[in-house]
Amino acid sequence: MARPRKYATNAERQAAYRKRKKRSVHFRSDSFEWSTPQDLFDELHREFAFDLDVCATVENAKCERFYSRRDDGLKQPWFGTCWCNPPYGRDIGRWVEKSLQASRDGAVVVCLLPSRTDTRWWHECVSQAEDVRFLRGRLRFGGHENSAPFPSVVAVFRMQSRP
Ligand SMILES: C[S@@+](CC[C@H](N)C(=O)[O-])C[C@H]1O[C@@H](n2cnc3c(N)ncnc32)[C@H](O)[C@@H]1O
Repeated sequence: MARPRKYATNAERQAAYRKRKKRSVHFRSDSFEWSTPQDLFDELHREFAFDLDVCATVENAKCERFYSRRDDGLKQPWFGTCWCNPPYGRDIGRWVEKSLQASRDGAVVVCLLPSRTDTRWWHECVSQAEDVRFLRGRLRFGGHENSAPFPSVVAVFRMQSRP
């Protein structure tokens, strides 16, 4: 026997799918702890020698020194060479702004970010990074079975030393 029709029209069915997709954690870049793949971090650490992970938990911190949610990394001083893979939610712009500001104050900040080239934070901050490296393919973040549903970029915030 055929299943009873749940939606009167195709348009209704598609709208319900779009709603489910929007809510589903599998499609949202801001819903997970997108822990940096260890091999990517190791490669960057060889190049930059990080002193501080500015946002992490005890479980996923990439450096011995790190700030957690309890410290609130946004309110702390960023020093030396910092690793910043921020929470990908609506506050991501604040992390990118702080990265730019910290670099003006003398730190070097290397960020792993979703490649959202249409955002305000991209145009106002990432565009001022010393180096922006678009990563080929999609990353498989720590603890995830599948590749991310979004592309990523590594942005290096460093003010060139003036003579
Ligand atoms: C994308 S994960 C990156 C984790 C880790 N640093 C890494 O690179 O794998 C972002 C982390 O920021 C932490 N976080 C969220 N809000 C924070 C805050 N206000 N201050 C410091 N850390 C925060 C989250 O708990 C999460 O572990």
